Amino acid sequence: MFLELVYDPTTNPLNNNEWSFPLLEILHIGAFTLSIGTIAIVDFGLLGWGKRGDPARLLKETSLLTLIGLAIMLITGPLIMSSDPDMYLRNSSFKFKMVALLIAIVYNYTIHRKVVLSGASPGINKAVGTLSLLLWVTVVFSGLFIAFVAV
Ligand code: HEM
Repeated sequence: MFLELVYDPTTNPLNNNEWSFPLLEILHIGAFTLSIGTIAIVDFGLLGWGKRGDPARLLKETSLLTLIGLAIMLITGPLIMSSDPDMYLRNSSFKFKMVALLIAIVYNYTIHRKVVLSGASPGINKAVGTLSLLLWVTVVFSGLFIAFVAV
């Protein structure tokens, strides 16, 4: 019952009113500021930017907010996609984003977390923080470009 609803864009509730798609996009964008915003705070700590110092303490203070933000992204994203799954699955920027997102999430909860909590050398901290920022900026831009890529 539900899958037919989801896979048939004409009957999808998202396509039958004017407010639900923009509302989901607002939640999607709002939640990425929470998730990626908190990851960036830790990365700036790794780069030695700002006065808030110890990346491990920053990680402990922000990890729940990051998780909440990511959870909202992983709910609102597929819902937005359900408005026209065929179109998005043929969109190269969307597909690139999904690959970048998977790499960024795995990296965040493995190498990044291990280095932040282990208190590595400034050189390693800078490398790990820079790669993290590059991965998440890639996810955001490939999300932004979905609307500009012709399918
Ligand atoms: C942390 C993870 C994510 C980030 C940072 C992110 C970021 C973005 C950004 C910046 C946009 C552009 C918003 C706009 O132009 O108005 C976007 C749109 C979108 N995202 Fe995500 N996203 C994430 C996860 C997901 C997931 C998991 C999915 C689906 C499985 C998804 C599906 C979409 C779709 C379908 C759009 C709409 C594109 C459009 O029609 O304009 N996103 N995302």
